[in-house]
Amino acid sequence: MTTKLFAISALLPLSAHAAKFAISARPFGEVDNTKTELYTLSNESGAKVSITNYGGTVTSIVVPDKEGKMGDVVLGFDTVAEYVEKSPYFGCITGRYANRIAKGKFSIDGKEYTVATNNDPNHLHGGLKGFDKRVWKANLGNDGDNPTLTLTYTSPDGEEGYPGTLKNTVTYTWTQDNSLRIDYRSTTDKPTVLNLTNHSYFNLAGEGSKTVLDHSLQVNAKHYTPIDSTSIPTGISPVSGTPFDFSKSTRIGERIDQEDDQLKNGKGYDHNFVLKKEDDGKLMTAAMVTEPTSGRFLIVKTTEPGIQFYSGNFLDGPAGKGGKIYPHRSAMCLEAQTFPDSPNQKEFPSAVLRPGEAYTQTTIYQLGVSN
Ligand code: BGC
Repeated sequence: MTTKLFAISALLPLSAHAAKFAISARPFGEVDNTKTELYTLSNESGAKVSITNYGGTVTSIVVPDKEGKMGDVVLGFDTVAEYVEKSPYFGCITGRYANRIAKGKFSIDGKEYTVATNNDPNHLHGGLKGFDKRVWKANLGNDGDNPTLTLTYTSPDGEEGYPGTLKNTVTYTWTQDNSLRIDYRSTTDKPTVLNLTNHSYFNLAGEGSKTVLDHSLQVNAKHYTPIDSTSIPTGISPVSGTPFDFSKSTRIGERIDQEDDQLKNGKGYDHNFVLKKEDDGKLMTAAMVTEPTSGRFLIVKTTEPGIQFYSGNFLDGPAGKGGKIYPHRSAMCLEAQTFPDSPNQKEFPSAVLRPGEAYTQTTIYQLGVSN
């Protein structure tokens, strides 16, 4: 196995100071007769993120705890074969339509489209072979002091039943302050629907730690979208007076097992929150998570109108990295996106992309420790 290591100082004029970051790449195995690679972007402090071009999947994020001890805070696998075989969307780029489309049907301009009902009776995360299962083209680079990985994938017209040739670029930037910035850009040659997100499963105490029920969460939302028993939104409701009120930082486990129809429908938290938009399309803080033993925090900023909070309710103990077991609710996802089932719900922000327009979104996962 070969490992390529680039120190950026070698690429800069000598006047530029010591290396601020490093990028390495190694083979990660073959999928569909195509080679995949695993890229590791490290900053000056040694904190690092690893991403494979299989599904644009973030496989690890290694950051310090309050004692300065490095630990990996996302769930994942050691080999690409395990991602292919059994990944519940760990760390991937999810699309074309992240989250659900009711009964796998939607219309654009009066024309009806049918997509796979892979989450009976609904469509989930782009279908049978969504963006998480595609091998993306990769380009390494930097944005000043920060290493970048730019991934591209052109989804042909009709792929998974969606109209339009969709050209996608996703750039991951790992910054000096331990933020993973994700910039998405897509264009189409026919009207289509689109909802991209990243599906990282976080456990700030370190992957393989027990549940996330002792993590505390704050969400910048006064409303959420309640769901029916098949997880399709039924409208928009205030969070006030419900277990969905995270306007103040609250322990995730505090209300998760309450007798509540919505928690029952989601088997816990598996709901989209309506972010307060002071200024549409501008980057805003959507959520903050803190974990008491490690002292780590996660801040999520996004340009998107919604964020899905999923409390790992369907995790059932797969063996992950280093053989560690990932039990029920041992991680949480905060998936910045537009609302689930938007193509069928007129009062939700539109998920339609037309020729000549560009879909853009930015989400930042900022990791740190509280003093
Ligand atoms: C969905 C869950 C689903 C999970 C893994 C989340 O985005 O909301 O219902 O189980 O992804 O597929």
